[in-house]
Amino acid sequence: MKGLILVGGLGTQLRPLTLSKPKPLIDFGNKPQLLHLVDMMKRAGVTEVVLAIHYRPEIMDDFLETYADYGVKIVLSVETTPLGTAGPIGLAREHLNDGEPFFVMNCDVACDINLRSLLDFHKSHGKVGTIMTTDVDEPAKYGKSVVVAHETGLIEKFVEHGKIFAGTRINCGCYIFSPSIFDRISGNKPTSMEKEVLPDLAAEGQLYCMRLDGYWMNIKKPPDFLEGNFLYLEYLATSQANALSTGNGLQGNVLMHESAQVGKGCMIGPDVTIGKGCVIEDGVRLARCILLEGCTIRSHAVVLDSIVGWRATVGEWTRVEGVSVLGEDVHLGPEIFVNGALILPHKKIQSQVSEPQIIM
Ligand code: GDD
Repeated sequence: MKGLILVGGLGTQLRPLTLSKPKPLIDFGNKPQLLHLVDMMKRAGVTEVVLAIHYRPEIMDDFLETYADYGVKIVLSVETTPLGTAGPIGLAREHLNDGEPFFVMNCDVACDINLRSLLDFHKSHGKVGTIMTTDVDEPAKYGKSVVVAHETGLIEKFVEHGKIFAGTRINCGCYIFSPSIFDRISGNKPTSMEKEVLPDLAAEGQLYCMRLDGYWMNIKKPPDFLEGNFLYLEYLATSQANALSTGNGLQGNVLMHESAQVGKGCMIGPDVTIGKGCVIEDGVRLARCILLEGCTIRSHAVVLDSIVGWRATVGEWTRVEGVSVLGEDVHLGPEIFVNGALILPHKKIQSQVSEPQIIM
């Protein structure tokens, strides 16, 4: 079986992190986001994953090299101009079309989907496509799709960017298609999955959906990345509790890389992910935050609701909160307050940032 992952976007909404790394390669739960999706496909029996990309394909070279022997073949399909969310399927036809159904996923969704069940259901109804859906409070937040379906799963209507939201059931960005989809997508012009392909399939009675009962979050913006982290840790707590860390000073769900060092008298958690090689000195308070690889949190600092980028430092007695995002190699001095700041890579900050702002 084959699968395609749409990795094409610039990831502007996850700046400043995406100034250092492409969105799909940023660690989510201490492993590259893309790998979560590759693993999901691998578990369902996929043997070849196509990464559809248009922006700087060379940034994937290291990933391809690192995972060359991962038990699943990973190849790039490069667009010279962006082909949208469906065009890449046509472009990758040579790779994808082995006469069997194949999976397609957006790269910025954190979830655990049983793709085997999706495949079984898809085969059972025999139509062109099946999409995963989930129920959310605010459909407007997520690509603005709304799915109206019968109890059987047959989709009556698929609407993207509608003005009125006739429901709370949305597209998860995960699909399976039969090879006849290639008759609808040429691959030589930009085509939208959500505005063209899915509405047309729905109108022709060729589209079914399955409801996801596990966790799901679109992680393209910092607050959603943090929310996704919370949901992922909660999922680990129920499915692989021993992946989480426990011990003195740790409370709630904490995922800590084995190489991280924690000083005395810290209070860590809930909903904290600590990356490889991070150093947390004495008396530190961390909650609802993500520390990417190589960070240092100096004594008595506090980090709440924020993301600390690669090799950044938070100074002694400094407090970071309000969905702040520190870019790679940012250094915060001692005894300062940083609230809701997005700080671009390699900056040194020595004074208060009490109002949300972008620091260039
Ligand atoms: N290769 C390639 N080429 N990929 C692309 C392109 C392109 O031209 N344009 C977007 N993508 C990728 C993005 O990187 C992302 O993985 C996916 O396509 C969808 O991105 P967006 O177009 O930004 O859509 P969205 O995130 O606002 O909404 C989508 O996802 C929601 C779920 O998270 C839609 O599919 C919604 O219907 C859905 O609810």
